[in-house]
Amino acid sequence: MATIVGGVGTSHIPAIANAIRNELHTDPYWEPFFDGYGPVHEWLAEAAPDVAVVFYNDHGLNFFLDAMPTFAIGAADAYASDDEGWGIGTVDPFNGHPDLSWHVIESVVAAGFDPTTCQEMRVDHGFWVPTWLLCPERPAGLRVIPVHVNTVQHPLAPPARCEALGVAVGDAIRAWPGDERVVVIGSGGLSHQLEGRRAGFLNPGFDRVCLDALASGDTTPITRWTIPELVELAGSQGVEVINWLAMRGALGDHVTEHHRNYHVPISNTAAAVQVLAATPVPV
Ligand code: DHB
Ligand code: FE
Repeated sequence: MATIVGGVGTSHIPAIANAIRNELHTDPYWEPFFDGYGPVHEWLAEAAPDVAVVFYNDHGLNFFLDAMPTFAIGAADAYASDDEGWGIGTVDPFNGHPDLSWHVIESVVAAGFDPTTCQEMRVDHGFWVPTWLLCPERPAGLRVIPVHVNTVQHPLAPPARCEALGVAVGDAIRAWPGDERVVVIGSGGLSHQLEGRRAGFLNPGFDRVCLDALASGDTTPITRWTIPELVELAGSQGVEVINWLAMRGALGDHVTEHHRNYHVPISNTAAAVQVLAATPVPV
């Protein structure tokens, strides 16, 4: 049976990519941010995942406003990045795991979800910045399953629905007969708004409520909110926290918060990283 080793929630700000490329890890602006990732790397080295399931939102690279799936799951052999216009370049393609992808797709469809299935899929910074940040060396055997959650074109799936998708993905992985070790990543957030009159809006109080709820066994402080309430509280891009909620759903009831780091701001965003180790069910 495949094992879910735990989950990591992390911001995916594009500027992180250039900070990595320019080796700004000890620059005064970036140090408090990158320092938060040392314990994550140590935990990942011990947890030794060989598959990463990444809940993220595409920002207009693979999907655009003309045709925006609420949920989409990759089932490709490989996933390439491409020029997004941010000046952040591209990274080497990621290896997929089509057999496990199709198993996850079949399971979540049987559980009542209707994802778009993508046998070709380009992945944007929402996918690759977290994956690069967490696995800078990218172990040769690492395979990925991208799960896109729409946070761009309203209406968005409500928070509880995103968490339920995560539960269905987690159930599917645990039912897979292979011996893969799977880490689940939730990408984006936390509070930020990039456009309009509230550009630059941040809400550390909201962010703390989310991090505490994700670490606890009770996510209702987040799932009770509607999407318009989330936009109000988190900013229009802060809704990306629904990716973290999907990640949390996949982990099952019992998690231990292994690590968190919160640093405001990086670019226009409240940057956060949180490691939730999956703990065995007590007997
Ligand atoms: C920024 C944050 C994002 O989530 C994003 O997708 C793009 C940019 C930012 O803060 O710069
Ligand atoms: Fe984003």
